[in-house]
Amino acid sequence: MIKSETSGRVARVRFDRLDKKNAITAQMYAQLGAALAAAEADPQVRAVLLHGTAECFTAGNDVADFLNAPREPGSSPARALFEVLPRMQKPVLAAVGGPAVGIGSTLLLHCDLVYAAPNARFQLPFVPLGIVPEFGSTYLLPLVAGYQRAARLLLLGQPFGAQEAFEAGMVTAVVPDVIGEAEKAAAALAALPPESIRLTKRLMKARHAEALAAAIEEETRIFTERLSSPEAKEAMSAFLQKRKPDFSRF
Ligand code: COA
Repeated sequence: MIKSETSGRVARVRFDRLDKKNAITAQMYAQLGAALAAAEADPQVRAVLLHGTAECFTAGNDVADFLNAPREPGSSPARALFEVLPRMQKPVLAAVGGPAVGIGSTLLLHCDLVYAAPNARFQLPFVPLGIVPEFGSTYLLPLVAGYQRAARLLLLGQPFGAQEAFEAGMVTAVVPDVIGEAEKAAAALAALPPESIRLTKRLMKARHAEALAAAIEEETRIFTERLSSPEAKEAMSAFLQKRKPDFSRF
């Protein structure tokens, strides 16, 4: 589930499904989109902080949902998030400890400040799952990390640590008290002139907005096609059955 609360001028939005490593279901995407939209609309709120626990950010999209929930071509339960987060005018911070897998990593590319704990573990396992990357990551990751590094992270899909995420430009700083540090930064942003922050964010993001939206559309279309591919079915069933996938017959 997604929990949200506002204290002072900071809205906190938290993943809360620890028994499944905060894996995100369709219902949670809807809650996440709604919580971010509410924070954006609330005049009291000056900054938004997204986090899990110090041990777990999120294991990404619920893999059982990938297998069981049929999707119309080009549709995605994550649209609720796709449509709100990249357009947020207020600053969005993330505090990452433990796993940040799949969309748990790609959503960070849309945040303004990302703090990672030394135990943070990132992974973009779209290719190993037989699908393709989403949420504009095929556009944004080469932009921030450079093509070769992005290709390694996106094609091999192996886990990587906080330092590598920092070097790839996905993370602002690696800090031991990740939630505490993000809270301090959120409070600092909340004390600054809000209109100046909004305008600065807009100026930084405007040049890429159209290309990013086009990337999200194209990725989502191909992603939904891939979900019903034999490669994806093998990869996801293997994860849920706790066995190694076998791609030798494809
Ligand atoms: N979707 C559904 N269930 C998930 C999940 C996900 N994305 N990630 C973890 N879970 C479930 C596990 O199936 C397990 O459930 P169980 O207790 O009923 O067997 C429980 O959460 C704990 O996960 P486990 O794998 O035992 O924890 P771990 O600490 O050994 O590993 C991860 C943590 C995040 C590295 C590992 O769970 C993982 O790789 N998850 C899949 C991530 C993924 O592929 N996401 C989709 C990206 S597109």
